[in-house]
Amino acid sequence: MLGPRRGGETLHSIAARRICAGLVECAAFPATVLIMAVCGPPCDPAGLEQRLARLDALLAAHDWLWRPLPFRTPRPDWTGRLPALAAEVLALDDADVARLAGDDGALIGLAARHLPALGELAGLVALPQQAAAEPAPHAHLSRDIPGRKLAQIGHFAAAVAAPVAPVVEWCAGKGHLGRWLAASRGAEVLSLDHDPALCAAGASLAGLARPGVQRFVQADALAAHTGRLLAGRHVVALHACGDLHRALIEGAVSAGAAAVDVAPCCYPRTVAAHHRPLSGTPGLRVQRDDLRLAVADSVTAPPREIRLRMREAAWKLGFVALRRRVTEDHAYRSFRPVPQSWLKADFATFCRQLAAREGVALPASLPWGEFEAAGLRRNAEVMRLSLPRLAFRRALEVWLVLDAALYLGRHGYAVEVLQFCRRAETPRNLMIRARRQAA
Ligand SMILES: C[S@@+](CC[C@H](N)C(=O)[O-])C[C@H]1O[C@@H](n2cnc3c(N)ncnc32)[C@H](O)[C@@H]1O
Repeated sequence: MLGPRRGGETLHSIAARRICAGLVECAAFPATVLIMAVCGPPCDPAGLEQRLARLDALLAAHDWLWRPLPFRTPRPDWTGRLPALAAEVLALDDADVARLAGDDGALIGLAARHLPALGELAGLVALPQQAAAEPAPHAHLSRDIPGRKLAQIGHFAAAVAAPVAPVVEWCAGKGHLGRWLAASRGAEVLSLDHDPALCAAGASLAGLARPGVQRFVQADALAAHTGRLLAGRHVVALHACGDLHRALIEGAVSAGAAAVDVAPCCYPRTVAAHHRPLSGTPGLRVQRDDLRLAVADSVTAPPREIRLRMREAAWKLGFVALRRRVTEDHAYRSFRPVPQSWLKADFATFCRQLAAREGVALPASLPWGEFEAAGLRRNAEVMRLSLPRLAFRRALEVWLVLDAALYLGRHGYAVEVLQFCRRAETPRNLMIRARRQAA
């Protein structure tokens, strides 16, 4: 059983429907609609801040459940506090683990059965969804853009609607989104990326696509002076990682961008060890490592990549068991990333390479099968004991995005937060839409 459902709906979808119903009720008051889209009833500008404050409080009050990593701690302390939850997840079969891991609403339902206060998370993470993707403006675009990215851009462009000023595409890659907007809106687009090869590839694709004009500039988005390019512009950014979307949001405010449409991603890609909220409102203390929870989903990874990740986790856990036996040191030691090529050999070769790198002397002969089986068993437990913390995954991500939206809201922008596409197209499907209001 995967949590409370009513007629096939999860807590999450019920809450989303209620909030969207609130949106319709407010549609007669355009000035309040943008705020309403994120806050649900009651329809008032403080709703965004209230929602952020509730998420902040729930995350802070339950950090004992989401911060400990079962990979590092075989039995996190919460298993003593909530033995029935631990027993329930440890008894799940593989199919239920996979289904739960991919369903934020069901995860919240699972956690809320043991901690009823968490039921509120379903409503707090529910956001309106962009209705439909627009079709590609010409055949070049559908040919040159890989499938899932094409769907993301179709939705994102529909959410951008009509650019209010010349467009800057931030961290553009090959500028697929910019090319789409140039072609479909006749917009003037400046696509910015720091990678010269991507800029060159994008410029050559732009030559094929008309009628709008798309130019490229090779620039470092993190350099303070780059933000000046945003003055008076409509900035779009599809999947700007960690510090790159922070630089965009802060740069847009200080330069006075006319509009910002941004889908953040890769929150842990930041140089700061401690996360600094943009709005200053949240009280929760978050470290860079904690931010990994917000992106702990692999819904769009190809099956081969998922298999490799599972093997990596199981083999590392097998190595942990082996190292404990050999060194009699039971403290957890973190791993530097392991080269993917090591995963192509067998478990024994993997362990020998890792032991050499970690300075662990191995005896000539070891019961490799025993340690490999121990790693597989531990990985199965880790996946199950991780489910309760995954119930906070979307909450942490929405907390991050609402904080950025609030920052824009406090600097004169009408803001809206939405899901621009379905999770199956990308789990990083949150978007902030901000339009500078007349002073
Ligand atoms: C996740 S990709 C997104 C690309 C594109 N927007 C898309 O959705 O396909 C992030 C992009 O940021 C660019 N990037 C990374 N660091 C940058 C920097 N410091 N300044 C400018 N661009 C950067 C990368 O080259 C890459 O193209």
